[in-house]
Amino acid sequence: MKKVVLAYSGGLDTSCAIKWLKDRGYDVIAYIGDVGQGEDYAQVEKRALKTGASRVYVGDLKKEFIDDFILPTLQANASYEGKYLLATALTRPLIAKHLVEVAHREKAHAIGHGCTGKGNDQVRFEVTAHILDPKLEIVAPVREWEFKSREEEIDYAKRHNIPLNVTKKKVYSIDKNLWGISIECGVLEDPAVEPSGDAYQLTAAPEDAPNKPTYIEVGFHKGVPIKINGKKMELIELIATLNEVAGKNSIGRVDMVENRLVGIKSREIYEFPAATCLYIAHKDLESLVLDRELLHFKQSLEHKYAELVYYGLWYTPLKKALDAFIKETQKNVTGTVRLKLYKGNCVVAARKSPESLYRAELATYTEKDKFDQKLAEGFIRLWGLPFQK
Ligand code: ARG
Repeated sequence: MKKVVLAYSGGLDTSCAIKWLKDRGYDVIAYIGDVGQGEDYAQVEKRALKTGASRVYVGDLKKEFIDDFILPTLQANASYEGKYLLATALTRPLIAKHLVEVAHREKAHAIGHGCTGKGNDQVRFEVTAHILDPKLEIVAPVREWEFKSREEEIDYAKRHNIPLNVTKKKVYSIDKNLWGISIECGVLEDPAVEPSGDAYQLTAAPEDAPNKPTYIEVGFHKGVPIKINGKKMELIELIATLNEVAGKNSIGRVDMVENRLVGIKSREIYEFPAATCLYIAHKDLESLVLDRELLHFKQSLEHKYAELVYYGLWYTPLKKALDAFIKETQKNVTGTVRLKLYKGNCVVAARKSPESLYRAELATYTEKDKFDQKLAEGFIRLWGLPFQK
């Protein structure tokens, strides 16, 4: 009997996928990766077994997600097309890595996922699996099966007694994890229409946010966020705290039309309350402690890093090389950044660092000035020399 390890979420697609694969002769092992989506995993596990999985694995991937995926991407300030902070994209290589590991342990022939043939996630899962073990087959039931609509799929599930907790009315397709949330489908498919308030899950509307600003201070050590308002925290707690505070202040909403890898444009909305604050704070601290050449060169790579993540190229030599570079740049990224959160805006109010390259006696326009302005003349002559006729 062929064995497949299926990435299982407990939703409609992956539930139907279990049954569909069994009908095609597969022994199905369900793998649930906990990346902070906040599900009742015991419930999800039960549902997988009831649907026909022969075995269920629940992997707590939160720490690995934060340490090995979120952190390097934050340090790279990587955002796709300048807006998408990659929350969904980052989980795919991580989950795929664990699917491959379970496949080896279970001596399975294949790994499977519930992605459609129109999205980026299929690419990320499959490219990762191909890199880590090219011998493993891939099965993608949603790309193959006959259902033309969600209603048909629900009818199939009902016919086969597949336990679900969905309704035909579900309006959006939502992917959630501890770093953010991606929302698509329904009315969002028309980019000319403003999303209604019910689309957003984590953030208050700016008009409902507090009428007074909230200040919050983030402390970094070598590029790693370690403190909120002077209090040391594990990153998982720090992110949860920021999601809560920033969410209330309507921080981190993104509405964008993005270019998918498969060639289509899609309208998607996102919420990244904590991630938005951390990106803003981290970038600001870098501008204080990195010299001009290092900062500018690093900035020129950030876009590339985001593309690699978005395109599913996590486990590639270029990405590994960029990681080594970025790690090196974080040595002095230590200090605190005070953020002011107010009705959807997150701005830097103040920053401080023991590694600061800001020299008050050079920048000042007061009598404390130590900058030798006479040197400027010769400098300017030589600087422009190559371009003089
Ligand atoms: N467009 C985003 C990406 O490719 C999110 C995809 C998942 N979104 C969803 N609503 N299920 O990473």
